[in-house]
Amino acid sequence: MLFHELNRAGCKTYLAACEQTNRAALVDPLKDRVDRYLAVLAYHRLTLDLIIDSHTHADHRTGVWDLRELTGAKVVMHRRAPAPHIDIHIDEGSQLELGSLHLQFLHTPGHTPDSTCIRIDDRLLTGDTLLIGGTGRTDFPGGDPGAQYDAITKKLFALPESVRVFPAHDYRGNICSTIGDEKRANARVAGRSRDEYITLMNNLGMPLPAKIQEALQANESAIDDDSLKFPTLAQLSEVRQLEPGEVDSRLHSANPPVLLDVREAEEFSGELGHISGSILMPLRHLPQRAKELDKFRDREIIAICRAGVRSTTAAAILGGLGFEHVCNLKGGMLDWSDAKLPVER
Ligand SMILES: [Fe+2]
Repeated sequence: MLFHELNRAGCKTYLAACEQTNRAALVDPLKDRVDRYLAVLAYHRLTLDLIIDSHTHADHRTGVWDLRELTGAKVVMHRRAPAPHIDIHIDEGSQLELGSLHLQFLHTPGHTPDSTCIRIDDRLLTGDTLLIGGTGRTDFPGGDPGAQYDAITKKLFALPESVRVFPAHDYRGNICSTIGDEKRANARVAGRSRDEYITLMNNLGMPLPAKIQEALQANESAIDDDSLKFPTLAQLSEVRQLEPGEVDSRLHSANPPVLLDVREAEEFSGELGHISGSILMPLRHLPQRAKELDKFRDREIIAICRAGVRSTTAAAILGGLGFEHVCNLKGGMLDWSDAKLPVER
């Protein structure tokens, strides 16, 4: 296997390739280094098959969309990833072949709901779940320290101790460690109970990344060309969230809400389907098309998307345009379908 970290910086991008077939995967590419990755692929005469994000990043814009457009390779993320245009959704236990290489995926939520680790032979790419001597923060939207503790101690620490750990970040000059090293000495997890870990993670008091606003919503929506002015975190936090069951009961009331689905057309008619009667208005077009919703200003509008993330952005945008009764379907069509509520395709 050809295996390289390509950034030589605190934020890591890994290249893994099969030397027999020259098929390659990139994991966690940065938007501003896409040229460099293409040059490395060309230098080694590799064909890019898979572009994988270990999770939805908040600290940099992902390079997956540019790489997909330029190479035709497939974008791979966990099914909980909020973005559209993901070619392969993986889940716990999913496996993908890359020439003679075998990629195994573990769902390790906690840093984000869509966090995954990728095992290739004796290497484990741990994203921002398990870092060398640390763990990924759990204070972003959707973060869950208890889930992260379980993922690390029950899934990752159950792997052979010799498995090598390659994280998505390291700011102390480390290259890799092993499962055994982290089990024994990880400063956050080793010797801590689940409750102690949750308390620790809830009190880290770390500042937010400098560019979280422009990175996170661009990565969540696959809109990274500055065509949309995203709401602030404060505006997002004001959006009222409704559980699927609550939305369903409102739909059966005397005064049912307007359903506004902000996904792409292919998602609307895709695997998850849509709720009957929904209006399709992709997030990218919302500011231009919001006028079409003027006739519903007095009614309740419920914004809907895949994971409830893009639709929270949509609800905040409508709030900014003076729509006063906009809520969000929490967890989106993923939670709606998990609740076995009816859909149309
Ligand atoms: Fe991250």
